[in-house]
Amino acid sequence: MRDQKNSNLSDNITLKEAQTRARKLRKILDKARFAYHVLDKPIIDDAVNDSLKNELEELERKFPELKTPDSPTQRVGGEPLAKFKKLAHQKPMLSLDDAFSFDELQDWENRNKRFLKNKEKFSYFAEVKVDGFAVSLVYENGKLVYGATRGNGKIGEDVTLNLKTIESIPFVLRQESKYYRQVSRGRFEIRGEVYMSAVAFKKLNKERQKKDLPLFANPRNAAAGSIRQLDSRIAASRELDFFAYDIIGNLNINTHHETHQIAKDLGFKVIPFNRICENLNEVVNFKKFLDKKRKKLNYWIDGVVVLVDDLKTFQILGVAGKSPRGMIAYKFDPEEVTTILEDVVFNIGRTGMVNPVAILKPVLIAGTTVSRATLHNEDQIKKLDIKIGDTVVIVKAGDIIPKVLNNIKDLRPKNAREIIFPRTCPGCGGKLEKKGAYWYCQDKNCFVIKKRALGHFVSRGGFNIEGLGPQILTALMEQGLVKIPADLFDLRESDLEPLERFAQKSSANLVKSIQGKKKIDLGRFLYSLGIRHIGEQTAIDLANNFKTLERIKNASLDDLNRVENIGTIVAESVYEYFHDKNKLKDLGKLLKKVQIVENTVKKSKITGESFCITGSLDSMSRDQAKAKIRELGGQWRSDVTEDLSYLIVGREPGSKLAKAEKLIVSSHSGPAGEKSQPPHHPKRSIPSHSGLVSGSVPKIISEKEFLELIK
Ligand code: IVH
Repeated sequence: MRDQKNSNLSDNITLKEAQTRARKLRKILDKARFAYHVLDKPIIDDAVNDSLKNELEELERKFPELKTPDSPTQRVGGEPLAKFKKLAHQKPMLSLDDAFSFDELQDWENRNKRFLKNKEKFSYFAEVKVDGFAVSLVYENGKLVYGATRGNGKIGEDVTLNLKTIESIPFVLRQESKYYRQVSRGRFEIRGEVYMSAVAFKKLNKERQKKDLPLFANPRNAAAGSIRQLDSRIAASRELDFFAYDIIGNLNINTHHETHQIAKDLGFKVIPFNRICENLNEVVNFKKFLDKKRKKLNYWIDGVVVLVDDLKTFQILGVAGKSPRGMIAYKFDPEEVTTILEDVVFNIGRTGMVNPVAILKPVLIAGTTVSRATLHNEDQIKKLDIKIGDTVVIVKAGDIIPKVLNNIKDLRPKNAREIIFPRTCPGCGGKLEKKGAYWYCQDKNCFVIKKRALGHFVSRGGFNIEGLGPQILTALMEQGLVKIPADLFDLRESDLEPLERFAQKSSANLVKSIQGKKKIDLGRFLYSLGIRHIGEQTAIDLANNFKTLERIKNASLDDLNRVENIGTIVAESVYEYFHDKNKLKDLGKLLKKVQIVENTVKKSKITGESFCITGSLDSMSRDQAKAKIRELGGQWRSDVTEDLSYLIVGREPGSKLAKAEKLIVSSHSGPAGEKSQPPHHPKRSIPSHSGLVSGSVPKIISEKEFLELIK
């Protein structure tokens, strides 16, 4: 349709008219590119952008003489290259020294102060260190002429065609910029990092896995691998992006941070939260800030690049070996490290599941010292062929529980010992039985299972009783005061006072806190029971569907299976629980002590809709939002999936946003999107998004829109 319309548009056009029209179209398209990629404030709709581009292509087809290398239609080249040309850098592309601790950073500053004979007071510019691939772009008379890899620092490879597929790299410097005149005569060089977004990286690896191709270890390798493709159509399909961080040449400025402002003004994307730091303490704070922020970013970062902001001082400091003295990479603690597996112990969970736990030679990882990590299950241990004494790879990213990821078998010592999986419960000696990949203790009276079950019962999502940590629960159980959850409600001050660490006041407080929690809604009650596979949301789904405990108890497997979001495994688990004589006996006792109230769910606009949040909200906490959504009959989700109804975007959104955008884009791209056109940047769909959504994709809404929905 659109093609047809455009060809009509250009049907009776003269060359002269076409020339004027093409010039105007290019100008608008470039403005839109700048607004979208650099300013992050789109000015035209995705579909409009496409349509204008189509019209320009049509004009260029009709009048090939209008085609210029810097036309926005020229992002993807034609045939693959035979090989890359070599290009010499006008100024070497250096590398950076690393600092991993504050001491190393301080040493660096001291060295520089000595070098400058203690004269200088330094101000720094601290930049996000993106985990990507350094490239250099050369413009002549304001137009991109070539782009090269770093190579050996002196000579790189000409990867111009691949770099041209990256939409955030401008073909022409921005003429509206106040620096344009200064940089558009002769040669202008800009350097920066080509990177792949976290979402694109994940998607690429998923596709490669399906095709049995080797996976990329990180986005840096993926970006490098994509830029070093001889066929630019491959690079174009890889969704690469670019951040600028340096300009080579004399700009008449005094500080490095101005370089970033100029780069941005000339049309390049720069990292928005780089900052000036007056001293190293501020650098440390910036690094801490980034370390917290990094999991929310849609690209991987591995530290902070710190440099002396004053250019003259930077120049005087010069180069030592291959690295500038005035600059250093202050790296985050690694999230993956190797260490020695010293032993394996076996923990029992609340459902009786046996969890093998690795006891490790302590290592620093992602900011904490780790000496234990999960080994999942027996099958996993066998698959990785792990023995005690092996050197293992541990991963811990952010809040996740450290786990053993891999095993470097070549480093196995001669005396490595077999890991012997227990065949009886390490807690009570009871019989173990295998279900799926996991072993479970079958003893109904296992002390450890009971303790874990009690811990779950009083946890935040359940009865939410404060002051009942594992040690106190153990003490209560060892004294025979508590065997099952119902017993908690019979505790009196006089029972607790004789116990170690229980003063009169804390006894009174605990009893009061328990008694204050006797009334509970059905969802929390179900969760507190610790039924296998029943998390907070499933418990609420069951509660909302059946309304009373009696109905859930009496539900047939079919009844349970019919509930939305409840699959066979969950249904079976619930059914089994309510048909277990022992469980029912304990439940009966508990029901005499507590009062279950129906989950108060109002019918509302959001009944049946599911919500997920990225970033933080101004008007309420995440827990409050969760409660409100549930109260109105909505569902809370922790992740973005195709069937999610709404993604609420708060302040500083994370990778969930990109994930949702991705789903929206893929739901829009029909066969038309499979033409050999450059891929759309995922964000492109945002402006045109509202109202366009068809089928099952999440709708992206702001906090304001969310508040409107729940009003
Ligand atoms: S400045 C002398 N700034 O880190 C090198 N590099 O370890 C000047 N990198 O090769 C580089 N983000 O690939 C600089 N904001 C940033 C960076 C950055 C990532 C990479 C770059 C460089 C490597 C040095």
